[in-house]
Amino acid sequence: MAISKNSSSKKWWKEQIIYQIYPRSFFDSDGDGIGDLKGIIEKLDYIKSLGVTAVWVNPFYASPNDDNGYDISDYRKIMDEFGNMDDFDEMIKGFHDRDIKFVMDLVVNHTSDEHEWFKQSRSSRYNLYRDYYHWWPAEKGKPNHRFSYFDEKGDAWKYDAHTDAYYLHYFSAKQPDLNWENPEVRREIYDIMHFWVRKGVDGFRLDAFQFISKDTSFPPFPKGYQNNVVDVIKHHGMGPTLHDHIREMNKEVLSKYEVFAVSEGAGSSFEDAHSLVDEDRNELQMVYHFEGVEVGNGLDDPHTLADFKQVHSKWEESFKDKGWISIFLANHDVPRMVSRFGNDSDEFRVASSKMLNTFLLTMRGTPYCYFGDELGMKNIYFQHINEYQDIAAKNGYKKALSEGRDMKKFMQNLSFYSRDNSRTPMQWDNSEHAGFSSDSPWIAVNQDYKEVNVAAQETCPDSVLNHFRKLTSLRTNNPVLIYGTYQQVDKDNPEVYAYSRTLDNQVWLVLLSFVETDSTFQLPDNMQSFEIQGNNYSELHINDGRAKLKAYQAVVLSQKS
Ligand code: NOJ
Repeated sequence: MAISKNSSSKKWWKEQIIYQIYPRSFFDSDGDGIGDLKGIIEKLDYIKSLGVTAVWVNPFYASPNDDNGYDISDYRKIMDEFGNMDDFDEMIKGFHDRDIKFVMDLVVNHTSDEHEWFKQSRSSRYNLYRDYYHWWPAEKGKPNHRFSYFDEKGDAWKYDAHTDAYYLHYFSAKQPDLNWENPEVRREIYDIMHFWVRKGVDGFRLDAFQFISKDTSFPPFPKGYQNNVVDVIKHHGMGPTLHDHIREMNKEVLSKYEVFAVSEGAGSSFEDAHSLVDEDRNELQMVYHFEGVEVGNGLDDPHTLADFKQVHSKWEESFKDKGWISIFLANHDVPRMVSRFGNDSDEFRVASSKMLNTFLLTMRGTPYCYFGDELGMKNIYFQHINEYQDIAAKNGYKKALSEGRDMKKFMQNLSFYSRDNSRTPMQWDNSEHAGFSSDSPWIAVNQDYKEVNVAAQETCPDSVLNHFRKLTSLRTNNPVLIYGTYQQVDKDNPEVYAYSRTLDNQVWLVLLSFVETDSTFQLPDNMQSFEIQGNNYSELHINDGRAKLKAYQAVVLSQKS
């Protein structure tokens, strides 16, 4: 019998609920103000209790921490601040003993400039490692402009006097880009992957992966190039050799084990995304796209519910037959979910957090749930540049200043969109430093921790935390929420996002109110008789076949036959 390779084919990695842990901010076991692996070990039972089935832990390799671990100086060593390899072994065993899969962040578009490869590469034009990175000899003149995310001037070329040449860094100057066109580089990377799979890793999250292949002649940008997301990706990444490299990685590593790989970034079109993950291509298993977290990306560009629905629906639609995507509303690079898409006021934070968690856990695609969102943690909204820790914020500030931008506006945007909003310490209890550490944390704790914390929510049956647990259990026990088809219902409704999930003869309907007032929703004929599977309020009012939803109410209904 032919094996079906369409998107309803069953795969273990489609069935996961992934919990993302930012280790620096999760739990500090040794009182230095920085979270660590032993801290994660201490919280294994908590993580299990959430009902998640896999974790993705942000980088914990040796690193000088220019970009909090995304600048790696040794791929086979643990960052001193986080512990050592024995701690890693104990941690992964702890996850596996609890039937939780472990996903490792693989950061191989670039290394740290303190990695031995770069030290060698920089030392001489004739060094064996020279071609591990992208160098442009100064006698050829200044290279064509390339954009850098974290550079103070936005310039991805840094001049290095030692060999009179420029090197490329799409991120900070301490994160030089690796040259994937060099087969030796690829071999090193596959070795690193084998090393970690043999240590038990079940999956890789491929950092900045759409950038590994670029046109290495670095031509001038074509006429009409704009500094927007689509053009940046198109002209800085998704290069001509990308698929060859990925197929090679699949052949050399991924296909040899029961592991999966998820790419950060999906290119700049559906076609790009499909070409990365469709199962008959033998490349990657999943991508995550950014459009969902980029709707209305700036205070001057607010989004509407219609935009939100449209983005998520078009991706669902595009992946209904082939390929598989991830679904997420927050991570360590974007603001807190409730501040961005819900309502973080005292009145509505709880209801809207539960509503957004309902969305994540009832959509098609593998959900990635960011630590703290199970409690409804919100943005910290720093006001002063000195409070920020993130290189993107600090260098972005310098860049804006030097460009003479409106700094009041800049700071307002930063306060809302900064990555530091989602990097504040996990709020465990109402003791000093939110129970995260016995010493001052590396980044300020959100002052709402006295009310918003694990201990307080454990004992309250209606808490955001316990609602999250109900939803993870609902998803795990009902394949309709994993494999069921997705269809929007009443798509022009400006207040309610409604969709059905259908598998065989099962039909479920999810109703999510995105407004702070009551709203009504006409139930479709086939859902007039139903059972309530999930609800973030204690009641659901139905009148004449119409559901009367409260502010941010989220209900999950299954059709009664
Ligand atoms: C994407 C990561 O998510 C982000 O945190 C990091 O700064 C860049 N890649 C560079 O590695």
